[in-house]
Parts: sequence; structure tokens; C-alpha cells
Amino acid sequence: MDSRTESSEALRQQLREIARLACRARCIVVSTGAGTSAESGIPTFRDAQTGLWARYDPVMLASYEGFVTDPENVWRWYDERRQAMALASPNPGHLALARWEALALAGGQEFLLATQNIDGLHSRAGSMHLLELHGNIWFARPLKGAYSEACELPQCPLPQLPPYDGQGRLLRPHVVWFGEMLDNAVLSQAMVTAGRADLLLVVGSSSQVYPAAALPHAALRKGGTVVEINPSETELTPHAHFSLRGPSGELLPQLLAEIELLHPAAEAAAPAQRKGAP
Ligand code: APR
Repeated sequence: MDSRTESSEALRQQLREIARLACRARCIVVSTGAGTSAESGIPTFRDAQTGLWARYDPVMLASYEGFVTDPENVWRWYDERRQAMALASPNPGHLALARWEALALAGGQEFLLATQNIDGLHSRAGSMHLLELHGNIWFARPLKGAYSEACELPQCPLPQLPPYDGQGRLLRPHVVWFGEMLDNAVLSQAMVTAGRADLLLVVGSSSQVYPAAALPHAALRKGGTVVEINPSETELTPHAHFSLRGPSGELLPQLLAEIELLHPAAEAAAPAQRKGAP
């Protein structure tokens, strides 16, 4: 057996073990970060700061102070990112998570996806129990409005920069900026659910940005199993029970395939595919 075969066999065993835990778990939480969208071609905030935007201080593009100084320019930045994101599609990692959720719910398990991503790709992939911790670039809310006043702003590119609502109120992107608190209702739901997770996966995140990075620790404190999927080592690696090294667009479909072999709801959910029918 050469070392590649050995490592792919070791990976298969880990995937099987995680799949077993996934089938037994009462509560599953998946926490995703920018790496989950990498294979959809979505650049991170800093990677997107190219060309004309490279000369801007990131804080001036993504903070309350930057916005009130020049709302039109900040909206131009977000409008360009929206246009780039509109061209992207969910990748096999997003789709595997949505399919896993459908299986889990069919089997009576609790399943929550908490993402730091603002691109909306998880909901486009079909994920339903989804918390967008850092907001969603396709939504906006009045500058002085509450989180609950967010509404969808689907036009792309936007016809007017900056946009206003029907009552003439200046709108801001519904995303969390530097120096801002997350929506407390969203964050506490994520933390409470992570605290009762038997199995928690962190996918495509450097686990450096809090409070999202605290989610796996909430599960660990209560004895939950933590799995990391990332091509690189992260801050979470020393604490995780399993660290799967590789891109999520490949590893999540592989994990899903193992779950489908074992999950009691898999047969009922897709009998035709599982039996190899055309
Ligand atoms: N599959 C899985 N993970 C990947 C892939 C991939 N194909 N490609 C890269 N990664 C990993 C990187 O190794 C890295 O650990 O994704 C991680 C991305 O890390 P960050 O860019 O720090 O993203 P994230 O953890 O989501 O935190 C960034 O900070 O900029 C703010 O609010 C913004 O939500 C964002 C947060």
C-alpha cells in the first residue's frame, strides 16, 4: 500500500466514523466561513479589494463611520461585490450541506447551519435552518433601523446609489461591519444550539473571528464532538476531535455519501437514486 492509498483509507475511516456520529446525533450544527464559498469563486473581503478599491482603508468600506462619510462610495463597493456574487453558484459543498439537512430533518434530528458568509449561497443551495451571523449582502435596512427591519434588495446592479426605502430613509447593507455587534437574537440562537450539539462541524473558517469562533467551544464544553474541514491548520485544530484536510467542495460530498449509506431516512428520502434506478 503506498502512502497515498493509506491516507485515502485513513480519510475514509474518519469519514465513516463521523457519518456514524452524524446518524446518532440528536443535534447537529455546522458553522461555515469564507472557505466554503472559495470553490464558488467568491473572493474574501480583502481579496476583493483589488483595482481602484486597493487604495481604500478597509474600515472606510465596512464601518458605520465610513458609511456616513460617503454612503455612495460604500454602496458602490457593495454593489460591485453583489455583481460578482450574482455570477457565482452554490458549489458541491453547499449542496451537500443542504442535502444532509434534509436527511437529518426527515430523521427527526435537529440541524442548524450558522454561517459567517454574507453571499446567500447556502440558502440558494436549499439550506433551511440557517443563521447568517454576519448578515446577507442581498438585504438592506434603514441606517437607523433595527436588524428586524432588513428587507431584500434583489436588483443588481442597483439602479440608484445609495438606495432609499419607500419612506425616503437611507438604506445600509445588512451586513455586520467592523466594530459592530452581531444581531443578538441570531447569535444567542447559534450559541444555545451549539451548546446542545452532539456533533459540530466547522467548515472553511480560520476560526479567528469571534464570536463565530466560540461556537465549537460551546459544543466542546458540553461533550459534543467537533470536526474541522479545512485545507490548512487553524486555531481550532488543537481542540477538534477530527481535522479533515482538504477543500470542502470535495470533502462534504464524500461525507454526505457516507452518511447516506447509514442514515435511516436516506432510503425514504431518495429510494430511486440509492437503488441505482435511472
Ligand atoms: N475549503 C475549505 N476551506 C477553505 C478552502 C476550501 N476550498 N479554501 C480556503 N479555505 C480556508 C482557509 O484555509 C481559511 O482557514 O478557509 C478559511 C478562510 O478563513 P478567513 O478568510 O479568515 O474566513 P472566515 O473564517 O470566514 O472569517 C472571516 O472575517 O473578514 C471577516 O466578516 C468577515 O466573515 C468574515 C470573517
